[in-house]
Amino acid sequence: MASQMTSVRTRRGLGIAARRSIATRPMKVTVIGGAGYVGVVTSVGLAHIGHEVVAVDVDQGRVALLQSGQSPIHEEGLQGLLRDCLGAGRIRFTTGLKDAVRQGEVIFIAVGTPTRDDGHADLSQVIQVAEHLAEYIDRYKVVVVKSTVPVGAVELVRSILSRRLVEGEHFDVVSNPEFLREGKGLVDFFHPDRIIIGTSSPRARTALRRLYAPILARRVKWHVLGATVDRERPVPLIETDLTSAQMIKYAANAFLAMRISFINEIAGLCERVHADVREVSRGLGHDVRIGLAYLEAGLGFGGPCLEKDLRALLRIAAEVQYEPRLLRATLERNELQVREALNHIKQMTGYLLYKRIVAIFGLAFKSGTSDVRNSRALRLIQELLAEGAIVQAYDPIAVAAAKTAQPNAIYFDDPLKAARNAEILVIATDWREFRNLDFAALRTRMAQPRILDARNLLDGRQLAALGFQYKGIGTP
Ligand code: UDX
Repeated sequence: MASQMTSVRTRRGLGIAARRSIATRPMKVTVIGGAGYVGVVTSVGLAHIGHEVVAVDVDQGRVALLQSGQSPIHEEGLQGLLRDCLGAGRIRFTTGLKDAVRQGEVIFIAVGTPTRDDGHADLSQVIQVAEHLAEYIDRYKVVVVKSTVPVGAVELVRSILSRRLVEGEHFDVVSNPEFLREGKGLVDFFHPDRIIIGTSSPRARTALRRLYAPILARRVKWHVLGATVDRERPVPLIETDLTSAQMIKYAANAFLAMRISFINEIAGLCERVHADVREVSRGLGHDVRIGLAYLEAGLGFGGPCLEKDLRALLRIAAEVQYEPRLLRATLERNELQVREALNHIKQMTGYLLYKRIVAIFGLAFKSGTSDVRNSRALRLIQELLAEGAIVQAYDPIAVAAAKTAQPNAIYFDDPLKAARNAEILVIATDWREFRNLDFAALRTRMAQPRILDARNLLDGRQLAALGFQYKGIGTP
């Protein structure tokens, strides 16, 4: 480990590796877990930049769907690219792991790592894949761990493989974390802010450089403060050791979560001193040392990653007897945020929610997706139902998923119907289309014209002019 760290530190610049010209040639790539979110985006992305990809998954239904050119996930641009790559014969989907492993030069592990009840990441899928790889690998392969796994888990993969195979001769292991945002996964794949390659093997490092060469060679626009500036810079390639690569992923997600909790805490303070958190975010974010992203106050962070990775990091800290105060506070602040929204609803409606109708617009964990995993909107609905309220819910695309996760709300595919007789309307995700709702018509449907804009999405002044009682988060 010590020698690895030294080589990382002495590399040029801030760990950004020297760019060598590498001839791009198509590589044979296998993606295990190729029908999951990260797996599909990675498979289609790699096929699109010219590689021959076999995506393998145990989910027969999803594999059949993907093979027929249909994406099981809602992701902008994915369906079109999937069909192009299938048409060009650069990608295929299969359930046959052994053949898929034998064909690949580079093997990605992109299976799920859900959180167990005790807060630990459930590594059973990763372990199972490693066991199969140990059995099936018949010549040198670069095994790339894409799934977010606790520090040490990649070592586990390495030790499972080493029981039957010789490291360096039959395989090398790389940690290559993804930073894909749902809804923007393909943009993030083709225009990454950086690519992280964590390995001690020069041979594996070269293979990964070659794999990503088309992306590394592309000179992307440099986004500063949300605006595109004229200068261009190459995609930074960070080459480091295995453990630091995994830590980068955890630290990145923890940092984003911390920014959101930070601005939510400031929002609470703004409310009490009659300041406006949107103005504070703007003034804060234009400091180039801070930046504007992830400073939107609201219901807190949801989704499958930020909280899961934060909890995993807390477990890692506990295992090494380290007290991560800031990380713990980040999570605690997030838990509070839904309760604050509930308090606003109570204040606006007169406290007793029993049998009162609350309309909730937006059900997924954020806009642009139908994913309701760890959705703050559903958490709020759960709290409202516990108070005896009747919840009428609407979302442009997430109603089916929300119904399964929370059957006790009443769901509508039309916002006007969802608002009928409601005493308050809560905007719970930041769908831009909510800005263009027919608020005059909504007002006539509602029992009381009240809006809690829990994502600070709407124009409060305009709504007040229409006769609504309007409240944002962290606004006076
Ligand atoms: C995140 C990371 O961004 C990505 O790099 C990682 O690979 C996976 O986890 P994702 O879960 O798709 O991606 O969602 P993201 O867009 O980051 O939003 C996470 C949550 O934070 C959402 O619930 C969103 O509404 C909330 N959020 C985000 C805020 O409340 N305020 C903000 O300013 C930004």
